[in-house]
Amino acid sequence: MKSQAAEAVRKPRVESGYGSPKPTVQLPIGGLRRAGASDLDELMRLEEACFEAWRRDSRRMIRDSLRNPRHEVWVCPEVESGGERLTATLVLRWLPGALRVYSLATDPERQGSGMGRFLMDFARRRAEESGVRAMRLEADAGRKGLLGWYERLGFTRETLLKDFYAPGRDAWRMIAKLADAPTALPE
Ligand SMILES: CC(C)(COP(=O)(O)OP(=O)(O)OC[C@H]1O[C@@H](n2cnc3c(N)ncnc32)[C@H](O)[C@@H]1OP(=O)(O)O)[C@@H](O)C(=O)NCCC(=O)NCCS
Repeated sequence: MKSQAAEAVRKPRVESGYGSPKPTVQLPIGGLRRAGASDLDELMRLEEACFEAWRRDSRRMIRDSLRNPRHEVWVCPEVESGGERLTATLVLRWLPGALRVYSLATDPERQGSGMGRFLMDFARRRAEESGVRAMRLEADAGRKGLLGWYERLGFTRETLLKDFYAPGRDAWRMIAKLADAPTALPE
C-alpha cells in the first residue's frame, strides 16, 4: 500500500487564481481507503475544519454513513509522528441508477493542491465501473467558485433547491451524465 502510494503520485499544482500558492502534496493514490469507526474523530475534525456550522454533519450522521451499505466513506490518510491524520474525505451514496457525491472535503492546509480533483476523478471512476448512468451532487448556491469548479468537472446545474441546507441556504442540484448513458435520470 505504502510503496504503491510512493509510486502513484500526480504532480500537484501550486498556482491558481485563488490567491497565494499552497504547499505541494503527493496525492496518496495507494493510500486512499474506506473509512471505519476508528476514523470518526478525524472525520469530525475535518467536518469542523472544512464546513460552516449550518453545513456540517453530526457525529451520528457520519457514524450512520459508515454503517450504511449504500454509502461509501473514503479517506486519504497521512502518517504523522503522533499517528494517522486524514487529509481529505469523500462520501458517496448509491442511488438507483446514479452515484451521489454527498460530501467532499480537504483539510484547509492541503486545499488547492489537487486532492479534490483527484477524489472527484476517483468518484467518476467508481460510477463508470459500476455502470450507473449519472453522478449527482448538491452544491451551495452561494459559492460561485465551487459551482464553476464542478462545471469544469462536467456537472451542469439542474435544479435550484431553496433552503436546502438551512433557511436562506440554497443549493444547486448538479448532474453529470456519464458516457453512453441514457438521458433519463432516476427521481
Ligand atoms: C472543495 C474542496 C473539496 C476542493 O478540494 P481541494 O483539495 O482544494 O481541490 P483542488 O486542489 O483539486 O482544487 C479544486 C479547484 O479549486 C481551486 N482551488 C480551490 N481552493 C484553492 C486554494 N486555496 N488555492 C488554490 N486553488 C484552489 C483549484 O484551482 C481547483 O480548480 P481546477 O481543478 O479547475 O484547477 C475544498 O476546497 C474543501 O474542502 N472545501 C470545504 C468543504 C467543501 O466546500 N466541500 C465541497 C462541498 S461538499
